[in-house]
Amino acid sequence: YVLGLDLGTSGLKGILVNKSGKIVDESSSEYPLLTPKRGHSEQDPKEWFRAAKEVMAAIFKSTPDAKDNLEGISFSGQMHSLVLLDDQDDVLRPAILWNDVRTTKQCETITSKVDNLIDITKNKALEGFTLPKLLWVKENEPDVWDKVSTFLLPKDYLGYRLTGQKQMEYSDAAGTLLLDVESRAWSSEVAEAVGISTDICPPLVQSHDEIGKLDRELAEEFGLSHEVPVFSGGADNPCAAVGAGIVRPDQGMASIGTSGVFLSYEESGDKAYNGHLHYFNHVVPNAFYTMGVTLAAGSSLNWFKKTFAPEESFVELLKGVKDIKPGSDGLLFAPYISGERTPYTDSNIRGTFLGMDIAHTRDHFARAVLEGITFSLKDSYELMKKHSNKEFSQIVSVGGGAKNPDWLQMQADIFNAPVVTLETEQGPAMGAAMIAAVGAGWFSDFEACSKEFVKYKSEVKPNPEAVAQYEKVYANYQEVYPTIKDLS
Ligand code: XUL
Repeated sequence: YVLGLDLGTSGLKGILVNKSGKIVDESSSEYPLLTPKRGHSEQDPKEWFRAAKEVMAAIFKSTPDAKDNLEGISFSGQMHSLVLLDDQDDVLRPAILWNDVRTTKQCETITSKVDNLIDITKNKALEGFTLPKLLWVKENEPDVWDKVSTFLLPKDYLGYRLTGQKQMEYSDAAGTLLLDVESRAWSSEVAEAVGISTDICPPLVQSHDEIGKLDRELAEEFGLSHEVPVFSGGADNPCAAVGAGIVRPDQGMASIGTSGVFLSYEESGDKAYNGHLHYFNHVVPNAFYTMGVTLAAGSSLNWFKKTFAPEESFVELLKGVKDIKPGSDGLLFAPYISGERTPYTDSNIRGTFLGMDIAHTRDHFARAVLEGITFSLKDSYELMKKHSNKEFSQIVSVGGGAKNPDWLQMQADIFNAPVVTLETEQGPAMGAAMIAAVGAGWFSDFEACSKEFVKYKSEVKPNPEAVAQYEKVYANYQEVYPTIKDLS
């Protein structure tokens, strides 16, 4: 077996996986999100360790043969969240999380002080990233800052608690805004420009590198009879990608959760996306990935249901959309109800319905919402095609968008590519287990592991008539943002 631990924002999930990629056991444990002030979002790193111990103990209890047969542990983790340690490796303050937005001023400082930020880090300075959080602590909590010896990201803190070794792998380091992404080294140029030292950066490793063996005391506590190697792991988005089999450049992933993500594999770190998309190191060695984010994807649909059909299930709400033609007879929805990230990075923009007709029914509105969310993901897809001549032979749909057959057909028609779904969706935890499987030597590489572990259901093919119709509607959709941006 291998064990994949996914350290999320609301809880930690562990899956125990066998050599054919089958999940034989799973467990999870939640922890609180602390919001001491408006815009602040924090968590106690010790809670992550507590949750990990609980999850592991539960799995060893219900699958006792794992005690003798566990061959590796690895992690997936929420990205960007800052953990600060002193010279005794004690946690200095609660972790400042990826969804904390206190750092607008620090982002402006970084943008003005680091001339070639995008060349080096491949990304724009956004509130969620780690470097702005480091600067915030430096400026606002000098007593804490004086004691900082190392910073880690969440899953690396957990790796440290399980092995005693501090390190960070490339896919998470890329989200700090301190990494030279293409050459995979901490950037002293960026650090110096904003007045911090790379001495606080941990050593860099690859996702499937062994960081140490499971701590002896912990192993005894769980009743393990042998030494278990622990591998570094990866950031949650590339782990989800690997878990969905995104290990080749011609595949994309469309993921619809509260927010939506369109992600694709990149073979090289030298493309010029100019900060329009996130461009980070993958967990696959020497590979990269690009990612665009729709802030309100599933949450647009949730809002629509809550507001107009609170008593109905999603299935009931969406059962009529198949009777409405592609393009919803002229009704267009832009899902900017809590701002937008890609391609506009505009937290003030708000959504809209456009083209309402006296003949439109609620089914038109429901269909327009699904289409609008998909158009927003297509904006990211189009940026990938435009800046790197990418052709997608297959899109893997995960999350809410994978659950509804009519929405899957819309995705195939709007993306103009075949769409598949996973036989069993396990999200980033599966990517973590795959990292452990590669690390433990079960497979020579991630592609071989993916062939064994990732199984798709049958493909949904684009319908040429709908594709042609959506091309016209998407051209209109692209006009919506420039038209409405100055109205609010
Ligand atoms: C990515 C991001 C989120 C977190 C969620 O840039 O901020 O997707 O990784 O855990």
